[in-house]
Parts: sequence; C-alpha cells; structure tokens
Amino acid sequence: MARRKMVAGNWKMNGARDANAMLLHDIVFDAKRYTAVDMVVCPPALYLESVGAALTGSSVQLGAQNLCEQEKPGAFTGEIHGGMLKDVGCAYVIVGHSERRALYGESDEVVAQKFQTALACGLKPILCLGETLEERESEQTEIVLGRQLAAVLARVGANGFKSAVIAYEPVWAIGTGRTASAEQAQAAHAFIRGELANADAKIADSTRILYGGSVKADNAQALFSCRDVDGGLIGGASLKATEFLAICAAA
Ligand code: G3H
Repeated sequence: MARRKMVAGNWKMNGARDANAMLLHDIVFDAKRYTAVDMVVCPPALYLESVGAALTGSSVQLGAQNLCEQEKPGAFTGEIHGGMLKDVGCAYVIVGHSERRALYGESDEVVAQKFQTALACGLKPILCLGETLEERESEQTEIVLGRQLAAVLARVGANGFKSAVIAYEPVWAIGTGRTASAEQAQAAHAFIRGELANADAKIADSTRILYGGSVKADNAQALFSCRDVDGGLIGGASLKATEFLAICAAA
C-alpha cells in the first residue's frame, strides 16, 4: 500500500511568540507547494493555541509534544489532558519521546497509557521508539524496539494503530549530528513493521513509520527513499524554515 509521507517538526522546549510567528509565516507560505506530504508542527504546549491560529487556512497540522496519561481531567497540577489538546486544535500528540522516557521516567506502561488516552481523546498518537547507543552496541536494538511496541499493543491492540504514527528515533542520533544510515533506518523500520504485522498485517502495511534523529535537508532524501521510511520527526532542523521546508521537499 502506498503510504502518504509525513514530516513533523518537534520544536521541543524552543520558541517565543515573535520567533514562532516568523517561522510559521515562512512555513505556511510555502506549505501549499508540498501537496504530497502531511506537514505537522509540534510547539511547546504554551504556544499551541497561537500556533494553531497562525496555521488557520493552511494544510499544516498541529501536534502536541506530550499529554497526561490520566483518562479524565482533574486534580493533576501542571498536567495537560488530551481533551484540552484536542480543544485547542491538535490533531497529533507525540507519545514516548526518548527525552520523556529518559529525563522524566516514563516507563513503557506509562507510554502505553498515554497512547490509549490520546486515542480516547480523538488525537493521533505519534509513538516514539528507539534504542540507546549502549543497547545498539550490545545488539539489543530489536529487543528494545519490540518491548516498547509490545507494551502499547498489549494495551490498545493492533486496532489502536489505525490512526497512529510510529517514529523510530535511535537515541544516539537525537541532537547529536550522527544520523542512522539509510540501511540502519530501513532495518529498524522493517523490524517494527514486522512486529506490528504479527498483530495485524493490514494495519502494519498502512501505518506510517517516521525516522527521527539528526535529519537535515542534506540527508533527508536518502532516508526517506527507504521502503519502510514514511517521512521524519524533525527536532533541531524544524526550527529553521528553510531547512524544514527543504526536508518536506525531500519527502
Ligand atoms: O523529535 C525529534 C527527534 O528527537 C530528533 O531530534 O532532529 O534534533 O536530532 P533532532
């Protein structure tokens, strides 16, 4: 099945009102040229509403970087419920980014809960999976990816992936300037798709698997031309309009 390419910009904890406006002006202006790719921007939660307003009338969609795992809103100080993300116009939400797993202690189980809550709120989860350098060097990559995916499958089943997106993000490639080779990316993506296919082959075939980890304009095409790579989740390079747009052009 032909899967539509997708490029999502994860701004992480970057941005300011003026800088966001300038960045979005350029992205929105050019977005109409990239009709073959779904473009998404994921700003910090504080800016979701203003970024959403700036995207009005454009094909660029809004995503959040995180959500609370709680099913219902209530007394959870500092947290953001998925329903609130939906309310301000988010279509997507990143779940299980390695920075959340490593810096904020999100276990596979919490990630699975967040995924389930996102679905319940009508959001499309972008589920991040990835191994550390130590895990890769000790040949644990497939064990780690399989375990991370299995935790979510155990909670939502294969049907939970009907609207979801997966992002393979090797931790050693994030923000390091060291990108996985096209062969390494393809191998990991094929493995992930195979694991999902064990649960449901049709859903696996239609699920987009993005690559993330030091994607730039000059390496995007090689990565995106791999059979099982359906676009990218872009960190640092999504903060520069020319770079982000060039990556979209490569998709
Ligand atoms: O979510 C995005 C990834 O963590 C990749 O970040 O492009 O800065 O390496 P990066």
